[in-house]
Amino acid sequence: MRTFPKGLQLGVATAAYQIEGAWNTADKTPHIWDTMCHNNPESIKDRTNADDACKSFEFYKRDIEMLKFLGVQFYRFSISWTRVLPTGFANKISETGYEYYNNIINDLVALNIEPVVTMYHWDLPQNLQDLGGWANPLIVEWFGDYTRVLYKLFGDRVKTWITINEPKQIGLFGYGGKRMAPQLNASGVGEYLAAKNLVLAHARAWHIYDEEFRDVQKGVCGITIASDFRDAVTDSAEDVEAGLDAVQFEIGLYSHPIFSSKGGFPDRVVKRVAAKSAEQGYSRSRLPEFTLEEIEYVKGTSDFYGFNHYSTRFYTRDTYKSGSNPIPSYDDDIGADFTYLDYEKGALPHVTVIPHGIRKALKWVKDNCNNPPIFITENGFGTFGGLKDPERISYYIKYLDSILDAIEIDGCNVTRYTAWSLMDNFEWDSGLSIKFGLFEVDFNDEKKKRTARSSAVWYKKLIATRLLDYNINVTELEEHVF
Ligand code: NOJ
Repeated sequence: MRTFPKGLQLGVATAAYQIEGAWNTADKTPHIWDTMCHNNPESIKDRTNADDACKSFEFYKRDIEMLKFLGVQFYRFSISWTRVLPTGFANKISETGYEYYNNIINDLVALNIEPVVTMYHWDLPQNLQDLGGWANPLIVEWFGDYTRVLYKLFGDRVKTWITINEPKQIGLFGYGGKRMAPQLNASGVGEYLAAKNLVLAHARAWHIYDEEFRDVQKGVCGITIASDFRDAVTDSAEDVEAGLDAVQFEIGLYSHPIFSSKGGFPDRVVKRVAAKSAEQGYSRSRLPEFTLEEIEYVKGTSDFYGFNHYSTRFYTRDTYKSGSNPIPSYDDDIGADFTYLDYEKGALPHVTVIPHGIRKALKWVKDNCNNPPIFITENGFGTFGGLKDPERISYYIKYLDSILDAIEIDGCNVTRYTAWSLMDNFEWDSGLSIKFGLFEVDFNDEKKKRTARSSAVWYKKLIATRLLDYNINVTELEEHVF
């Protein structure tokens, strides 16, 4: 058994589109995921959408009961932009949207559960997408205006703000590819354009908080970056280089501008994309540059490092053949193959169980990002279902053990741990069939009945005792229905 340090807070997370439903209730307008799921249902593996999801818009009080049951110290959830600002712009605030989030925040505060609020978890207003979305530099101001509204409405009670969740996935899958909304599929170009605007928009939101609200509201504001680790298959010099490149493309592209002392995009990425672009006949690099002014504006704009982590990939250039990825593309720019080796698989490749990878990723952040306070804003395991879920508990135990090593041995400054997710929800392009919940949700039930899995009872005990117990006991399932 191991004890959790006093300074480590324990919580759970969800995101608006994945749980709320009520996609067109009151004056809410569609966002890019509504549009994609309605217009191209075949883009979602099981052809489901999140029109209803967990119906949390209607039943949020039950979510709060579940949080109370678990005894979490904080709840990370996200605000849907078009639910609060139906035009996407800050000209009109929705009364219904305001009330919905206001009630959640008040209920949480009354229970002494800290609200940790993500302002953008992938649901961009469709009418801003029609104007180019994250590819239009003006989004920096549009996003800034939206965040100012949220600080004004809720900042008296919300003390932890996350600007943007996982910029890489937004840019790479939504603008460089078509796995995710808005399916722009501008491979090798769109992901880098979005990366720059996402980083600048984050910085704008941080500056607004810092200059206009921090003195009075006294909270913190930061970004959450997907920090799955990238390692080398072997210790050959070539593989090691491939791993070092891959980690800069994966994590560095978004963290280097914000957390490093030098600022701007990381050298390895700048060099590789410039060289490939030249080879391909482009007159300039497909990776846009930051101006010197922008570099300074962005540097240091996060009060903590929001860290999402699920698994690790191993890279090699041994077998890599040019042409095995589209040209141009982000993967071709990395120019290496990857594997998850023979580690235990989950329901999705990105939850392959590689616990030591989280320790390496935390150490990487410590060493490359000026040793920031780290909030683990997501970590969890996806399955195909079942109320008894020893494999999920086992994943959590192994990863938490490795996190404790990172804290105690490597000196990483981890102050929050967030399990993804409170309950089953809409897993983006995988739809409703992949389950990440501590609570099972019956999506066939009108009321979207929630039932505690073994892992919910396990997490509740862990929070109450603050002990990491290596024994997994799921023989008797306790019945807790919400
Ligand atoms: C990261 C995303 O932020 C979240 O929305 C998603 O459900 C999890 N990964 C699991 O894939």
